[in-house]
Amino acid sequence: MALLEIKKAGDPVLKEICAPVEKIDKRLRNFLDDMAETMYASEGVGIAAPQVGKSIRACVVDVDKKNRYDLINPVITYREGLEVGEEGCLSCPDLFGDVERAQKIRVEYISRFNKKKTLEAEGLLARCIQHELDHLDGKLFIDIAQNITKGRKEKK
Ligand code: CO
Repeated sequence: MALLEIKKAGDPVLKEICAPVEKIDKRLRNFLDDMAETMYASEGVGIAAPQVGKSIRACVVDVDKKNRYDLINPVITYREGLEVGEEGCLSCPDLFGDVERAQKIRVEYISRFNKKKTLEAEGLLARCIQHELDHLDGKLFIDIAQNITKGRKEKK
């Protein structure tokens, strides 16, 4: 496994619409493992392939350090409710802001072993998945966030 370089806001790769993954093989699984290692090393809860310079529809999320999801060609097929919450991003170091997201979602994706999967998520996991899927469409949270601050806001 290897740590990958995280691309920062301003890098054109973060603005691209990513291409679907066509081949799910050992090479892709190694890449997903490298993405996960890079995410954990940076204390992130999600990472998308374009953030490490690869314009393909794949991301890794783990919001509790227990359940890691490798999402390949993910599509949100259901959304419910709206919730505003604070977000940050490994590509926008030290910036935080409030983003409105669906509270509950259903996402369909392909697993790292080429199985069709459906995941129902809510709260932080749902938020994280929506944030990562935006990356696959060339969108950064700072383009849609409110009240962007340097550093995490003080918790009341
Ligand atoms: Co991000």
